[in-house]
Amino acid sequence: MICAAKTVIDNDLDQSITKFLAGDSAVTQDPYPLYKRIRDAGPVYWYRDSIPIIARFADATALFKDSARFLTYRGKERFAPERLSDEDRARVDEIVAFEALQMNEMNGDGHRRVRAAAQRAFLPPRINQFEAQVRGIVNDLLDEMAENDISDFMKFAYRLPLSVVSVFMGMPKADIDTLKELGDDIAAIKPFVGGELSVEKIRKAHLSVQRTQSYVREMVARHRSDAAVRTEFMEALLDAQSGDKLSQDELGGTISILIYASHESSTNMLGNGLHSLLTNRDQWERLVADPSLSDRAVAELLRYNAPVQMMTRRTCETATLSGVDIPEQTRVLILYGSANHDEREFADPDSLDLMRTKANHISFGYGVHVCIGSALARLEGRVAFETLTRRFPDMEIAANPGDLTWNAHPVFRGLKSLPVRLGRDRGRTDMVR
Ligand code: HEM
Repeated sequence: MICAAKTVIDNDLDQSITKFLAGDSAVTQDPYPLYKRIRDAGPVYWYRDSIPIIARFADATALFKDSARFLTYRGKERFAPERLSDEDRARVDEIVAFEALQMNEMNGDGHRRVRAAAQRAFLPPRINQFEAQVRGIVNDLLDEMAENDISDFMKFAYRLPLSVVSVFMGMPKADIDTLKELGDDIAAIKPFVGGELSVEKIRKAHLSVQRTQSYVREMVARHRSDAAVRTEFMEALLDAQSGDKLSQDELGGTISILIYASHESSTNMLGNGLHSLLTNRDQWERLVADPSLSDRAVAELLRYNAPVQMMTRRTCETATLSGVDIPEQTRVLILYGSANHDEREFADPDSLDLMRTKANHISFGYGVHVCIGSALARLEGRVAFETLTRRFPDMEIAANPGDLTWNAHPVFRGLKSLPVRLGRDRGRTDMVR
């Protein structure tokens, strides 16, 4: 095979990528023009001549299909353990052991087994059964919001997934807040590119790992001994463990990743989605005219402005993408947000079009690690947008859209706040469908 040469080094492009990854708001406010430059530079762009970035749709999906060569394992090297004291090295070992029990860090047969066991808790009938409850939660939160003429929609967007997951998993809401904070400390030691992790961050993450583990242990014991608090979801997970499909430790790892992963992305799906609709008024009006389009609307909204913008993989042996060799042990950056706007895959990709026939976005990932909670997230999105358009057809953004601020984080794309004026309320929609 003839291998394509590396892309030509483009210092200007590298500088913009560096700013983006460092969370410079000049780029994170609107990363899509940068993505286009990366896509146009070639199928594999070698950032700093060493880190391959995959920004085109076809190459991103080809990479995710090759899960035998592109692994999710982040590795211990990021901690640079050789510089650490014995105590801190022991902390790192505990952190890495904790991560290794979560399915997003697993590969091959281990991943297949743990994921299959957890999947039983997400069977479509179980999710669908949950719809009436989600509808009730959405309407209750909107009742509260309707007490004010202008409110911050991000508060709703934060509280909905929290309430849903607390009912689904049978956990007090306040606990989820705490676990989310612990999860954020742990996520802080998963940098995407470069930089040495401070010892302070490592110690904080280690403490949060221990607190998460002890919380989950108590939660499992509570659900095992008390049928009154046990939800069907937890029952499915506990059965998997009793049936030897999951070890006790894997059960803990599975619950902790589910709690962490279920929250922020769903918040941003709601915030990004409403922002996209209200800044593309014709599309909002289309949904108001026919709220039953909400399911396809959610797909297009996720494509248009994905809550998770990128992920990484590491090659375990040399792999080839579009004729470009990527050596073993190379960390690769894959840009979902860019793939979803690839003009090679989508006609007029920068337009929001709810009637788009091709809505095959990869905002939930692709391949063996595709989001396990996607049906639950889509249910929340469908019910939320259907209810918003039925109840508040005149809703509008109560700020100059140019003044809204996006999180500086390059991975988790979402608004800091989204003030909206609700307008007339056509009343609760609990009984729809
Ligand atoms: C709109 C909301 C959501 C978005 C955009 C989203 C996005 C993603 C993405 C992009 C991945 C793939 C990561 C990779 O390939 O490395 C993923 C995996 C995952 N998601 Fe979600 N997610 C959402 C909601 C949820 C919910 C509600 C849950 C749980 C209830 C959840 C649990 C997970 C888990 C456990 C994985 C790892 C799966 C595996 O490695 O096999 N997510 N998600």
